[in-house]
Amino acid sequence: MHIPHFDIDLFLRDYWQKRPLLIRNPWAEWTNPLEPDELAGLACEEAVESRLILHDGEGAGDRLVEHGSFPESRFEGLGQSPWTLLVQAVDHHVPDVAALLDPFRFIPNWRIDDVMVSYATDGGGVGPHFDQYDVFLVQGLGRRRWRVGPACDSRTPLLPHEDLRLLTDFEATDEWILEPGDILYVPPRVAHDGIAMGDDCMTYSIGFRAPARSELIEQWCDHLVEHMADDDRYEDPALARQDNPGELTAPALARLHAMTIEKLLDRDAFARWFGQYNSRRKYPDMDWQPDAPVEVETVRALVKAGAPLLRNAASRFAFIRQADASLWLFADGESFTCVEECAALAEELCARDQVALDPGLAGSDPAMALVVALVNQGSVAFETDA
Ligand code: SIN
Ligand code: CO
Repeated sequence: MHIPHFDIDLFLRDYWQKRPLLIRNPWAEWTNPLEPDELAGLACEEAVESRLILHDGEGAGDRLVEHGSFPESRFEGLGQSPWTLLVQAVDHHVPDVAALLDPFRFIPNWRIDDVMVSYATDGGGVGPHFDQYDVFLVQGLGRRRWRVGPACDSRTPLLPHEDLRLLTDFEATDEWILEPGDILYVPPRVAHDGIAMGDDCMTYSIGFRAPARSELIEQWCDHLVEHMADDDRYEDPALARQDNPGELTAPALARLHAMTIEKLLDRDAFARWFGQYNSRRKYPDMDWQPDAPVEVETVRALVKAGAPLLRNAASRFAFIRQADASLWLFADGESFTCVEECAALAEELCARDQVALDPGLAGSDPAMALVVALVNQGSVAFETDA
């Protein structure tokens, strides 16, 4: 699904990671995919991450944050002051909200984080802030005034607050009132502030992710270190005499430095590790693991019968093409080497969240083994037992 009259190439060239863009209701027909009380219901579930932000005065910093899950009664007596409820990863739970991601698939899946949904009463909002990630803010219901400001960085002054990273000074450079169906794209670190105008304001944040360099290096090194033996050590069988025993010589340093970076430079090992690392679920418990592992004959019968295969909305899939036409499939932190019909199946699974399998695949042992593994690790399920 595409956003009508939206020029993707132009967007990528001039706006993505560069500057904000307001897209006035481009949908043929906009329907809000979730009711406010359904959102409140999700915030009552233990497996769902949610926050309630209550205004406790006039200042931006006068906000109280409560973390979910909430008892149903919490939403009854919230009083007159503005408040907002934010629920993370609603796309993992509500297919109609997951469908909101489809028009944005021109950005690769591995960059997608989740769809956060907010509900606010008149005047409610999280306050002026910046995020480290790109976001498309889709106005679902009601109206919200968005103001955007300059780009911030780690030196930008913040208000002292335990839970919120709010800007001390926020000077808007642009301001828009968003109506249902309108979309505002905000690049990473650009200051923004959205205030509900009237009650029943719902905003869908299509949020992306980008690894921090520090995280990449730390995690990649942690992974490498796990596979290193204690007897893999510095050696100097050609040690030359030196005049001053206190000198750390250039040849010694060169060997030490080489020892450190050699493994880090292994591009294939990095690719395999990153694929696994990046495909881990955001919420590991949200799997579709069957009560008892499925057997290959069960899967074969379902494929023969033409049962569609569904991807768990909480699962993450990606693939890396190999020079020999095989590919590595990554799903929820696991990797699979796939060739021929299995590689084609892996590509399909990465391209869409529902795959109509060719019944002929039932005759392919590698394809059946892959599907069995994916079902048993809770990444996919056949429509009949989803
Ligand atoms: C909201 O929906 O209120 C906040 C979204 C954001 O600013 O990132
Ligand atoms: Co934000």
